[in-house]
Amino acid sequence: MNISAGEKTKLTAKLSILKNILEPSKSQNLLIHQDINEALSYLPEKFVDLLVVDPPYNLSKTYANTKFSKTNDEEYELWFEEWLTLVKKCLKDDASIYVCTDWQTSIPVQKVLAKHFKIRNRITWEREKGRGAKANWKNCSEDIWFCTVSNDYYFNVEAVKLKRKVIAPYRSDEGAPKDWEETDAGNFRLTHPSNLWTDITLPFWSMPENTDHPTQKPEKLIAKLILASSEKGELVFDPFMGSGTTCVVAKKLGRKYLGIERELDYCQLAVKRIELATDNKNIQGYAGGYFWERNSLADQKNKAPVKKKNNSQEELF
Ligand SMILES: C[S@@+](CC[C@H](N)C(=O)[O-])C[C@H]1O[C@@H](n2cnc3c(N)ncnc32)[C@H](O)[C@@H]1O
Repeated sequence: MNISAGEKTKLTAKLSILKNILEPSKSQNLLIHQDINEALSYLPEKFVDLLVVDPPYNLSKTYANTKFSKTNDEEYELWFEEWLTLVKKCLKDDASIYVCTDWQTSIPVQKVLAKHFKIRNRITWEREKGRGAKANWKNCSEDIWFCTVSNDYYFNVEAVKLKRKVIAPYRSDEGAPKDWEETDAGNFRLTHPSNLWTDITLPFWSMPENTDHPTQKPEKLIAKLILASSEKGELVFDPFMGSGTTCVVAKKLGRKYLGIERELDYCQLAVKRIELATDNKNIQGYAGGYFWERNSLADQKNKAPVKKKNNSQEELF
């Protein structure tokens, strides 16, 4: 995604910087260009329905102009808990929380989350790309911790079902498909999502969502979190917004959003993506109300396959 010099000025003008406490009604659909250490103190209490956090992992990485340096688990834990305590005040009593990490950072993250929230699950997703190692297993997975503030929370499993091609089309004694559907586009099964995700593709150069952000999350990944744990019109907050993936997906799915990012280049990418999302609500890998396997674009294009049944035609979705 390229942004011209002239465009940068216009995009920057759409960013907010907080100088006073925000009213809850004015905390919607804002992209804030500020350090969280400053911005979080201006946010109101109990206004967030869903928190999606993708903080710097405990790795040395440069984000535009700023280097995040790897430290020990204790130091990371302190840093993580300091800002999480401020973010926690913004959450409604029935809010859900998702925190992205890698396997090493998962250890201090889990300790802090257990102190503040009810941990419900740990999702592991397959990162297809990864650097091979000579004396270790290639690292090809990441974690997402799923927590809630209380036992009162929203979870819509129907909104995050997977649509998979049937490999072994098992039939009943009468010859009817067992737990799958026979359509003119092929045989498919709808399955409940587990906490192991192997259908995620990292944004690559030819995907419209791809930007220069070094650790951009796939829209499909974030769409699962938002659809499972928020309703239309609710507010999704991402305090480490990066290129804006959470806010963009929230907008595409009819949620309100609030994002904070300290690097201007990334904020500009986020504004541009938010603007594009006004007309283009497409999320690669999510079509017809279902999440599809990798490399199934041809099947997804046929979003409304016709079910084969008693020689009559019936719409599947
Ligand atoms: C892992 S990246 C998030 C990527 C994002 N999920 C996306 O899809 O583009 C973390 C982001 O947090 C930002 N960041 C780090 N420390 C910050 C701080 N103190 N205040 C605001 N943003 C910060 C970094 O600049 C970086 O873009």
